[in-house]
Amino acid sequence: MGFKLAILISGNGSNMLNILEACKKKILSSKVKLVVSNNYNSKGITLAQKKKIRTAIIDNENFEEKLQKILSDEKINFVCLAGFMKILSKNFLKNWKYKIINIHPSILPSFPGLNAVDQALQKGVKYTGCTIHFVDDGIDTGKIIDQRIIRIAEKDTLYNLKKKILKEEHNLYIKVLSKLEKKEGNDKI
Ligand code: GRF
Repeated sequence: MGFKLAILISGNGSNMLNILEACKKKILSSKVKLVVSNNYNSKGITLAQKKKIRTAIIDNENFEEKLQKILSDEKINFVCLAGFMKILSKNFLKNWKYKIINIHPSILPSFPGLNAVDQALQKGVKYTGCTIHFVDDGIDTGKIIDQRIIRIAEKDTLYNLKKKILKEEHNLYIKVLSKLEKKEGNDKI
């Protein structure tokens, strides 16, 4: 069964666009009803508007209250975070258990938080990748759903490693959503 999706972004929105396309092409049975950003300069918001998707930019003041209202108004039943740079509180999340997922550009629990790809390069790890996890009120700490591994080549720069990871993220997000669409209880994944 498909979801009525909201996608929350803060930046470029390439994952958001990828999910949108997969829904349009019926690769997923979900529908993207809403794209929300906390950032007025988010490129992704302009991209979503061009695709005629309902968008909202919510400023910091009472952010969660406003977010909850718009999610309820649009009857959203599942939320994807994709480059969304804000922590959601325990109070907000209590209504959304196993209904919000996030993508992070590392093999969690390694390198949570900001600049994960840079952190991996600095550390000299030989493998990195991306993780999709349920969202809790910690920083990238929720239950892990799935991961993709990438070998770091010696010649990899921050720029091209980010690009490689993003490509895997796009594949992984669709795979995970497709799996969740078929589940009765998301926590059983
Ligand atoms: C991705 O690398 C994601 O893992 C991280 O932020 C980036 C967002 O990219 N949380 P985009 O906005 O989807 O292009």
